[in-house]
Amino acid sequence: MSYANSTIPVSAQQGVHDRLTERVARHLAEPFLKPIADYNREAYVASLAGWDRRAPLILDAGCGVGHSTIQLARTYPDHWVIGIDQSQDRLSRRKPYPDALLPKNMVFARADLVDYWRLMYADGLRLARHYILYPNPWPKIGHLSRRWHAHPVFPFIPKLGGVLECRSNWQVYIEEFAVALGQVLTRTVTWETFEAVVPLTPFERKYRDSGQTLYRLVTEVD
Ligand SMILES: C[S@@+](CC[C@H](N)C(=O)[O-])C[C@H]1O[C@@H](n2cnc3c(N)ncnc32)[C@H](O)[C@@H]1O
Repeated sequence: MSYANSTIPVSAQQGVHDRLTERVARHLAEPFLKPIADYNREAYVASLAGWDRRAPLILDAGCGVGHSTIQLARTYPDHWVIGIDQSQDRLSRRKPYPDALLPKNMVFARADLVDYWRLMYADGLRLARHYILYPNPWPKIGHLSRRWHAHPVFPFIPKLGGVLECRSNWQVYIEEFAVALGQVLTRTVTWETFEAVVPLTPFERKYRDSGQTLYRLVTEVD
């Protein structure tokens, strides 16, 4: 696929999945007890080693190659910015600046967010800002539970507080995320389309340059 020729997710699903509300209700009612893997505990500790325990926290959840983490650290120099991704390959890719010019108020760690989010919550940490940028859409109808908002870990995401922002190039994903979050928070959560004048991530740049509509949801979850 050439660079500016990215396609929006193709799915037989045209609107909010009809099992979503039932799925979220189940995750709210049943505790999520999957054991935490040791490598995620180690990554969690490592991600906080450079934090002074005073700077407000920003989590870039699923940061990919980390360009957004770098931009966020530059935008919020008084915050500690954590970029988490499960792919060491993506985290290790060359950054747009030499190491010496990278912001010092950020860290990357390889971890599974399913564990990382729960570790952060259990530790009593709360976020100032929380970004979930272009998560894998899992557009097949049968893959609903792989989308973050239908995953058992989802109720932990708003518990971390702060300004939560999710972006996607698939309208259904953002609609569903808003419905599920609204169900957890027991209030209406809205979403919007937006122009990525300065793209925050490589995926965002690619989608924008392919002429796609971009969707986002931004809401305070304290
Ligand atoms: C579509 S990419 C988007 C990356 C980046 N946010 C961007 O916009 O360029 C989704 C990212 O989420 C990461 N990811 C998916 N599931 C994850 C999990 N359970 N824990 C940590 N990272 C995960 C993937 O490795 C991938 O880098």
